[in-house]
Amino acid sequence: MSNQITIALTKGRIEKSTVELLEKAGFDMSFMEDKGRNLIFESPDKMFRFLLVKAPDVTTYVRHGVADLGVVGKDVLMEHPLGYLEMLDLNFGLCKFSVASTDVYQPHDHKRKRIATKYPTVAKEHFNRKGEDVEIISIQGSVEIAPVIGLADAIVDIVETGSTLVANGLKVYEDICRISARLIVNKAALKNNPELMPFIEKIESIVGNEEVAFK
Ligand code: PRP
Repeated sequence: MSNQITIALTKGRIEKSTVELLEKAGFDMSFMEDKGRNLIFESPDKMFRFLLVKAPDVTTYVRHGVADLGVVGKDVLMEHPLGYLEMLDLNFGLCKFSVASTDVYQPHDHKRKRIATKYPTVAKEHFNRKGEDVEIISIQGSVEIAPVIGLADAIVDIVETGSTLVANGLKVYEDICRISARLIVNKAALKNNPELMPFIEKIESIVGNEEVAFK
């Protein structure tokens, strides 16, 4: 029997887009239709096993080698950059990292700013690159309220449609970078599992791999 490929998928939208992508690549994914509360799925031919996990945990499963491949947003990879190889930009899950705040924010004043974020590494690196020393306040979600109620001067967060910002009276002051879903691989698995490279090449032929313009 050929080697099975285990893929850690980010639960939710990325998981759905990945299943669509694999269908486009000619794989029968019907075994994932009635998911219920299951978190592990094996294809009937045993070629694939899928693990449905939270985004930051995708990198953990791949780093530990219990998943050969992972599909996760670039936002998470920027925050957790070690222990895997990034192979492909899958060109879905498109959004961007931005600095946002209320109308009263003064991005160019000289006071030390407090930045609230779910992405402390990304935020710190962004302001470091600009030569700005900021205080990072790590929070877990609903970041948009932080500047409104005075916890922070501004936020660093992902923006997709922009509607969460608008609904909370915030606007974008600066774009940091484009984000999309990426395919990552465990380095040892890439060497030892002969099924992996042909599979990755097949996926690459479907997504193309051109850089998409910053939106
Ligand atoms: C993300 C992000 C923004 C929102 C952006 O939050 O942190 O809040 O989506 O999307 P939009 O530009 O389309 O409005 P998520 O849904 O992950 O929830 P969270 O705040 O609990 O992290």
